Amino acid sequence: MRYYENEVGVLITQDAVQQRVKELGEQITRDYQGRDVTLLGIMKGSVFFLTDLLRQIDLPVTFELMGVSSYHGGTETTGEVRITHDLAKPLHGQHVIVVEDIIDTGLTMRFLLENLAARHPASVKLCTLLEKPARARVQVPIDYKGFVIDDHFVVGYGLDFDEKYRNLPFIGVMKRD
Ligand code: IMP
Ligand code: MG
Repeated sequence: MRYYENEVGVLITQDAVQQRVKELGEQITRDYQGRDVTLLGIMKGSVFFLTDLLRQIDLPVTFELMGVSSYHGGTETTGEVRITHDLAKPLHGQHVIVVEDIIDTGLTMRFLLENLAARHPASVKLCTLLEKPARARVQVPIDYKGFVIDDHFVVGYGLDFDEKYRNLPFIGVMKRD
């Protein structure tokens, strides 16, 4: 019996996650031939995905991290987002791929993409491990997508419930959703 088994069931296995990350890395490698790429991970959730994805990209690639947190009015996000950890270096002229764990309402990413555009990178694309389209409130253009999931609260592979379960190597679903 593993410690999490009463609370979390498997939605996407570790093997399926790793296989999909490998495919995304190969796709990015093809799309960015001849260019340097900066992966921009959004803390903390995307860090696990980011470090695996980096190792599947066969190009000169660097990474940076940004922290954002959404304000919540009750249980619903207000769409107002605060930068909790900003970049030390400018993105001017760089080919940036934003790496996110999940696009839920899309409000966090809409704010972030507007903020990044003001820094004049050469290009910005979005790579998310998961998308939950049932909850979308604004449309954000997703260039690379791992999996589309139903409206579950998911944990594992970086995703948390109250900061816990980030260490699970698969995508799980809370049993008392
Ligand atoms: P959005 O602004 O509603 O798209 O929220 C995106 C952020 O909410 C993600 O970066 C996650 O941190 C968090 N989030 C949304 N859905 C889930 C989930 O099912 N599990 C864990 N975190 C989630
Ligand atoms: Mg997050």
